[in-house]
Amino acid sequence: MDRRTFLSAGLGAAALASADAGPGQSANGREVRIVGVACSPRQGKTTATAVNAALEAAKSVDSKVKVEFVDLGGLEISGSLGGAASAKAQQPKDDFDLMVLPRLRDPLPDGLIIGSPSYFRTMSALCKAFLERLAVLRSPKLLLADKPVGVLAVGAYRNGGQELVIEQIQAALLCHEVMVVGGKPGAHQGATLWNAYKDDITKDEFGIESAKKLGIRVAEAALHLAQG
Ligand SMILES: Cc1cc2nc3c(=O)[nH]c(=O)nc-3n(C[C@H](O)[C@H](O)[C@H](O)COP(=O)(O)O)c2cc1C
Repeated sequence: MDRRTFLSAGLGAAALASADAGPGQSANGREVRIVGVACSPRQGKTTATAVNAALEAAKSVDSKVKVEFVDLGGLEISGSLGGAASAKAQQPKDDFDLMVLPRLRDPLPDGLIIGSPSYFRTMSALCKAFLERLAVLRSPKLLLADKPVGVLAVGAYRNGGQELVIEQIQAALLCHEVMVVGGKPGAHQGATLWNAYKDDITKDEFGIESAKKLGIRVAEAALHLAQG
């Protein structure tokens, strides 16, 4: 068994063990839906792969976990025009309203995984625009309150600001009163990935494992919270 298979097998076993231990049985039989959002303007690239790795791991925790992937790559999403009613009225409808919001609101997810590339050690502009537009889910009612959210970041450098990006996204989401979660041990703040192999992020074993650890933790928390 090579190191990669070993790590994957270990995480799979951990997922099963944790499901046996309780959270998987605690959702009163109802499905939990975890939505992963990749916030790179490049569709299907490293951030998308990382978010999908986290979603796959989330699914492995319990058969009740259903996952859905939203790739913001290629979508036109502008930042908020401001919170005032007049500004809201002027906000032109774009891909956020047409293609993203329906997948986040109807129905609301039980958990979220958000991934962004590190752009100059901060989140991508697309990610910021997405987070600003998410304001529609916090007023007049905090619709994302108490939902577990995990965050991942991808950078071209090993220390390219990934943890800073995670912190920035977590800080923004606290305004929704979400429950920020990290990952299982080794990925406690979230998943950090290193795009060192010409966009083949699957070669970053450590990073992909951290994405899996994040997905498992979000799934565990979502199952637990769904118990009510
Ligand atoms: C404008 C810009 C700024 C970037 N700044 C950083 C950075 O500060 N740190 C880093 O590690 N990588 C940086 N990168 C590289 C990306 O984070 C990296 O290529 C990432 O894998 C891109 O994600 P994607 O493949 O999902 O598009 C930057 C890339 C761009 C385009």
